Amino acid sequence: MPQLRKEPLISELDIKVRIGHMVLDIAKDLKHQELLLVGILRGSFMFTADLVRLLYINDMHPLIDFVFVTSYEGTQSTGDLRLLREPSLDVEGRWVLIVDDILDTGRTMKYAQEYIKERGAAEVRSCVLLDKPVRRVVDVQADYVGFTIDDVFVVGYGLDHNGRYRDLPYLAILEGEATFE
Ligand code: IMP
Ligand code: MG
Repeated sequence: MPQLRKEPLISELDIKVRIGHMVLDIAKDLKHQELLLVGILRGSFMFTADLVRLLYINDMHPLIDFVFVTSYEGTQSTGDLRLLREPSLDVEGRWVLIVDDILDTGRTMKYAQEYIKERGAAEVRSCVLLDKPVRRVVDVQADYVGFTIDDVFVVGYGLDHNGRYRDLPYLAILEGEATFE
């Protein structure tokens, strides 16, 4: 059974501080665009909520929508991506900021970017809380990255293992299961 490491990998406070800095970068680049923020469910729900509550301090009031992309069973990426919920807002001609919890193999972000581009977005940018560059299998990067981490499986702050631990307000390592393709 995988074991949750009780001490945080990244604390609640460190997450908040980092998002504060990310928001300054986002505001610098995108403040004058009417932005549509598209969160990828379910993992990004907590990050998206904290992000928009700091964007507003920078006078940004994006439209907010969600898509539901799923690819994971346990700690293994199946590579089999499915969109279970489409955006309900029209993306055509809009500047879109895709928000996800983590960039791992990159398949989810690539899929979401292509999906949004195909629907005629004027510009597509991406923002992730975590990046695991060593795990990448498709060529994709995020424009805004919170933390770059090693190849460890993390839970909390929206990220789960088989649906659990999304509730933790911080990020912790789940030990005992290697991540692999
Ligand atoms: P990718 O398509 O392989 O880049 O994976 C992205 C998705 O995989 C994320 O949105 C997460 O839901 C999930 N994922 C990747 N790494 C982790 C992890 O360390 N913990 C929990 N979920 C993860
Ligand atoms: Mg996810």
